Amino acid sequence: MSVKIKSLVLKSLVVPVLLASAATYANSESRFKDGEQVYAKVCGHCHETAGDIGPVLSGRNLNPAYTTAIVRNGFRAMPAFAASFIDDKALAQVSQYIQELPAASKE
Ligand code: HEC
Repeated sequence: MSVKIKSLVLKSLVVPVLLASAATYANSESRFKDGEQVYAKVCGHCHETAGDIGPVLSGRNLNPAYTTAIVRNGFRAMPAFAASFIDDKALAQVSQYIQELPAASKE
């Protein structure tokens, strides 16, 4: 088999497998357990403490609708997160969680 044909055959085998696994992912339950986990795994990397990339979100009683809109659309330096990554339920949970999050104690 020529190299070209081989690579074509390879692609035709690999691409459907990738698509199939992506579809399984999209249909499966949320990858996050709850809002606390979304915050810990995603938001916290940039928002946990003063001096991080993003502003501190805790202890500010942020309106969940505001947080949700920023996560979906992005806001200046903050990247947007699509529903394929943070589904609607997980986003609602993390927005609620952030609103209720007490201010972190000063170190
Ligand atoms: C890659 C870093 C990064 C991640 C991850 C991230 N953010 Fe942000 N976020 C930012 C930055 C930077 C800003 C400030 C944007 C600006 O003012 O330019 C911001 C701003 C915000 C604001 C507005 C804050 C204010 O003071 O009004 C909210 C709300 C917010 N982020 C929520 C979230 C949530 C919820 C998550 C997790 C789903 C998240 N962010 C994940 C970087 C991040």
